[in-house]
Amino acid sequence: MKIGIIHYRSTLSESTMDLMKAASEQNIETEYIRVQGLDSYIKGGDIVVKYHDRDLDIDAAILRGVGMFMSLEVFMKRMGVLEALARKIPVVNDPASSVIARDKWRSLMQLASSGLPVPDTMVTENPFTAMRYTARVGRAVLKPLMGSLGLGSALVEDPDIAFQLSRGLTSMGLPSYYQVFLDKPGFDLRVFVVGDRVVAGMKRIIEGKWKTNIAQGARGEAISESDYPEAFKLAVEAVKALKLDYAGVDLAFDKKTGGLFILEVNAFPQWHGLKQATGVDPAKFIIRHVADKVRK
Ligand SMILES: Nc1ncnc2c1ncn2[C@@H]1O[C@H](COP(=O)(O)OP(=O)(O)O)[C@@H](O)[C@H]1O
Ligand SMILES: [Mg+2]
Repeated sequence: MKIGIIHYRSTLSESTMDLMKAASEQNIETEYIRVQGLDSYIKGGDIVVKYHDRDLDIDAAILRGVGMFMSLEVFMKRMGVLEALARKIPVVNDPASSVIARDKWRSLMQLASSGLPVPDTMVTENPFTAMRYTARVGRAVLKPLMGSLGLGSALVEDPDIAFQLSRGLTSMGLPSYYQVFLDKPGFDLRVFVVGDRVVAGMKRIIEGKWKTNIAQGARGEAISESDYPEAFKLAVEAVKALKLDYAGVDLAFDKKTGGLFILEVNAFPQWHGLKQATGVDPAKFIIRHVADKVRK
């Protein structure tokens, strides 16, 4: 069996190397495939995918990254070619589901309509709407619609700041995504799901800062299902609702309402921090899951 690992980067990331190592331990071959090198053809009604003009001989693929800051057209091409590939072999995560997961609005909408708890959220291109929303909710988080690592997320308390920020974003051709600010107890949770079960979970703790991404300096601390059974259950349900095979689910408690909310579902999660905090390498579970799909 051979599994392709698809990424846009020229160098191998830590997670790619973990996947390659886990595969070789399970006697599975791997090939590193750069997404920009994939082409697709319609030939006499048949759909074919090639890599640098040669046929791919892989039984499945794991999608690890499609690029950052690319144009809409490049993004669409990459996802379109990956969807062509997914018609032939299992691609994990499914490209169409990955597109939805990458968009914070679409994924929260899908979670909410599946009855899962998400914070009140709003998306707009109108600075007046942003101003009124901030005035109404008091404290809001403005996030990039397709961001990660906590980069670019900002706490906005002043309706005029919201107006200014959204006016600037709109003039740059960018939407504004606002979410009610949750008063967290100094940490949030990252729960890693593969298939229909949790393989590892951690608390992300930070003092004096509201962003608890490991990339923002938070430290991880392993948790188990008996510590946070509700979070483990919600994470599995979120991954199912978004039709993903694996994901890193972010959840947070709100001290004000006592509620637990799903913040986002990462379909291309990093796991360096999780591995360090929990001693669990998700790669071996992902490889096993993909191999099971091929054998089915
Ligand atoms: N509505 C919110 N209220 C309070 N903290 C939030 C809220 N949304 C996100 N955060 C915090 O900001 C950080 C990044 O949020 P997240 O939505 O996961 O985006 P990213 O894709 O950048 O990781 C996390 O530490 C999370 O706990
Ligand atoms: Mg996150």
